[in-house]
Amino acid sequence: MSMKLPFFRKKKIHKKNDKEILTNIPEHVAIIMDGNGRWAKGKGLPRIAGHKEGMNNVTKTVRAANKYGVKTLTLYAFSTENWKRPRSEVEFIMKLPKQFLHVYLPEMIENNVQIRTIGEFESLPSHTKEAVQYAVDQTKDNDGLILNLALNYGSRHEILRAMKKIMKEVESSSLSIDDIDEEQLSSYLYTNGFNDPDLLIRTSGEKRVSNFLLWQIAYSELWFTDVLWPDFDESTFVQALKDYEQRKRRYGGI
Ligand code: FPP
Repeated sequence: MSMKLPFFRKKKIHKKNDKEILTNIPEHVAIIMDGNGRWAKGKGLPRIAGHKEGMNNVTKTVRAANKYGVKTLTLYAFSTENWKRPRSEVEFIMKLPKQFLHVYLPEMIENNVQIRTIGEFESLPSHTKEAVQYAVDQTKDNDGLILNLALNYGSRHEILRAMKKIMKEVESSSLSIDDIDEEQLSSYLYTNGFNDPDLLIRTSGEKRVSNFLLWQIAYSELWFTDVLWPDFDESTFVQALKDYEQRKRRYGGI
């Protein structure tokens, strides 16, 4: 006798909950978020509209990084060279961290994200500093993903600053030249305490590193995509992770 099985509706799987099975997830991913201006131009919008969209897009990448178990996500939000841009554009970009945190800080807190910064923080406008410092303080005890915002960051500036600090300490005899090794120098950089990036991503088709983490990316894997930053989404992020999965890192060995 055949038994009538109850009818089960096949559970609908929502795309956003899908998770690709990936091994070998990079612990530290750094991203040069490029292409906001071109994104806006392509839509007949002013450049600042691209930055605004780029800001909103940060959260998508934070979610994706969290989902795949990345431990640190460092985002190049403003370089020491970006001050050369028109004043109105700089002023607009400087307002973005506050706007971003106003909307997304509660979600970051809920997801145990710790917000940190690298770069010459003191020279930022006070409204930017206050908003970012507030977020850093509010999330300092979180031990999930580290969202590290590179603000007024430039690698050459960072190395020069480290060199000057070291030289001052040598001059005052609190440091001996013979004690300076790679580890020592690393500890004078803004990234002190962070592992070097395993994977560096640059969006928008440009293939250069633009003064970003020059010391720290000595052995990072590089991944470039033509996707403009405002269009960078979880699926592009996963493409980068899949490519990274295949890389054989040798660090100069065999
Ligand atoms: C480069 O694109 C982008 C920037 C200089 C600004 C990046 C800033 C954000 C994405 C927002 C940051 C938000 C937070 C929360 C920190 P571009 O203007 O050089 O683009 P283009 O090469 O197409 O002109």
